[in-house]
Amino acid sequence: MGVSKPVHAAASCPWMNTSKTPDQRATELLSAMTLDEKITMVHGDGNIFIYYGMAGHIPANPALCIPDLTLNDAGAGVGDGQTNTTAFPAAIAQAASWDPTLQRRFGDALGWEAWHKGIDVMLAPDLNLARVPMNGRNFEAFGEDPYLSGTTAAAEIQGIQQNNVIATAKHYAENSQETNRNTISEDVDQRTLHELEGQAFEIAVKQGKPGSVMCSYNLVNSAWACENPQLLTSLLKNEYGFDGFVMSDWGATHSTVASANAGMDMQMWDGSYFGDPLKQAVLNGQVPMTRLNDMVLRILRSMFRVGVFDNPPAPEPGAYTADVATSADNQLARQVAEQGAVLLKNSGAVLPLTGLGKTIAVIGQPAGPEGAPQVYGGGGSSHVPEAGFYPNVVSPLQGITQRGLANGDKVVYANGSVTADAVAAASAADVAVVFVNDSEGEGTDRSSLQLNGGTCAFLIACTASMYDQDQLISAVAQANPHTVVVLDTGGPVLMPWVDQVPGIVEAWYPGIEDGNAIASILFGDVNPSGKLPETFPKSQADLPTQTPEQYPGVNGHAVYSEGLDVGYRWYDAKAIQPLFSFGHGLSYTTFGYSGLGVRKLSGGNVSVTFTLTNTGSRPGAEVPQVYVGDPPSSGEPPKQLKGYQKVFLQPGESRQVSLTLGPRSFAYWQNTWIIGGGSYSILVGSSSRDIRLQGTVSLGKKTL
Ligand code: BGC
Repeated sequence: MGVSKPVHAAASCPWMNTSKTPDQRATELLSAMTLDEKITMVHGDGNIFIYYGMAGHIPANPALCIPDLTLNDAGAGVGDGQTNTTAFPAAIAQAASWDPTLQRRFGDALGWEAWHKGIDVMLAPDLNLARVPMNGRNFEAFGEDPYLSGTTAAAEIQGIQQNNVIATAKHYAENSQETNRNTISEDVDQRTLHELEGQAFEIAVKQGKPGSVMCSYNLVNSAWACENPQLLTSLLKNEYGFDGFVMSDWGATHSTVASANAGMDMQMWDGSYFGDPLKQAVLNGQVPMTRLNDMVLRILRSMFRVGVFDNPPAPEPGAYTADVATSADNQLARQVAEQGAVLLKNSGAVLPLTGLGKTIAVIGQPAGPEGAPQVYGGGGSSHVPEAGFYPNVVSPLQGITQRGLANGDKVVYANGSVTADAVAAASAADVAVVFVNDSEGEGTDRSSLQLNGGTCAFLIACTASMYDQDQLISAVAQANPHTVVVLDTGGPVLMPWVDQVPGIVEAWYPGIEDGNAIASILFGDVNPSGKLPETFPKSQADLPTQTPEQYPGVNGHAVYSEGLDVGYRWYDAKAIQPLFSFGHGLSYTTFGYSGLGVRKLSGGNVSVTFTLTNTGSRPGAEVPQVYVGDPPSSGEPPKQLKGYQKVFLQPGESRQVSLTLGPRSFAYWQNTWIIGGGSYSILVGSSSRDIRLQGTVSLGKKTL
């Protein structure tokens, strides 16, 4: 059995008339469908093994001109065993670029590759907030802040969908840990839900308009996410105005009637609940026919709106082996890795590596041929291509050696497994670059934030870093004062050696162009401009989730007693100094901020303007961040990100930056959105802890 041939407009399908709206076309088609045809649309056919190269499938109905729905993972490239697709950097690296324009280009490339592989639903982006830094899937999402996550996701969704491929915002909601993910109830109050993760989804839904949202494995406030009427119907569909369909995560459905009536529209991957059992439930009136019609209408409307009917993917026979990894996409993967790399520390300008004819010691398994294929992506369903196939990753050793040649530099390599060899190489070199990694993957959380505390990634073999990496760094740093550490991690790690090394770069899981991207950063061909989407704490004891009740939960419940104090909101509220703060990221040039103007506009908007100047001697980009501090009476955290912009400037160049903050930037949730009124601080900074300009705006009390 193969995927049905694509279906094109037929005279017998009046809904193929493109002059009608997606809603009209979907309504017309729905009224032509039998009960059985409707039931077929709302669940996977279970053929995920037959259709290798996809995660789920709904068969075409040629008589009605309905094309196949072919679903595939996900946010770092087209995976699920597909070969010859581009392995892009992990989502956390994408978020670290703070650049929605680049993210849209990434989404466009992802959608393009998917479509050319016969896929019309991508199971990305992942918007779960990094409430718990140990969460094994944080690398798949955009960090700890709802505004950064939501805007990054919206850009990706638009990029994917401009290729007639439906995007899926997931995992709705509060899938904040892998430990007990199939049984844990995430107990969150309404204010926290609305203002944090809910807001990320709200922005993604309103700005990105994804055709689909995936409900998650866990329970939220004791009700399964996929049969939770408050989450699916009240919040997502009614409050956020989501007009697409809700699909279950794979195996996250636990009932027929309760799920359908709560607002779930499609079961993945099979029909155990939404096949025959749903048909029976409709026939006996437990699920109203109007609800089934709404489910199908939502699926069809998304398909029409995104262009799946009018331009279904048309893979040639054998497209699953087609090579869609274009050189343009390869370049884009490199650009995302370069823009997402974060220069955490650069004492004494140890970077960039300048001067000619030096000896560079490259140290550590992730840099070499054994390790680089292990660290370019995280483990689990998002892995590209997934289990068993390894793309041709450019290792850091290759990238640095090749780039060093241009300078007449000599590169030596020690894989780090024998400390004495690493120390010998470092002692004889002008500079030592030590690569270290963690191994994050779906299915397991990291047991701690220690570099060596990581577990092996799910679905990929783990051979990298079977030695004490903290100890390796200390030993190398002692041997050579010019030591730079490159982190290939999916999130924060503890750095007991932070004061022993002058340079630290967070390169995340950098994708196929790993070595070329890191060489560009180290040699200064690209000026680093990435900023942290997640706080790096000094110690595990500083984390917002301090009790077992919060994480990993007790008696099946993880209680969000930290409320709004997630990520930097917590560190600010408790005046805890992080190791590296949210929004932090250095450059090889410097930037000056001046002339803040804060002005009220009509419609409750506030304009924020200032001048940004490149005060150094290299071209580079800065990401000015606008935080709002509400009056203390609001009960909000001290400051919250409400705007940002990535700005590229030549040396000496100045640019006026203007951002508009909408009324919601000043509102909190208390049964509805409320501006409490009073004096609001406007804080413009280079990071959440490096505020350069401050102003205020007075606003009256208002219910939105
Ligand atoms: C994951 C989803 C993924 C799905 C299909 C699930 O285990 O949680 O993110 O899209 O599998 O592969």
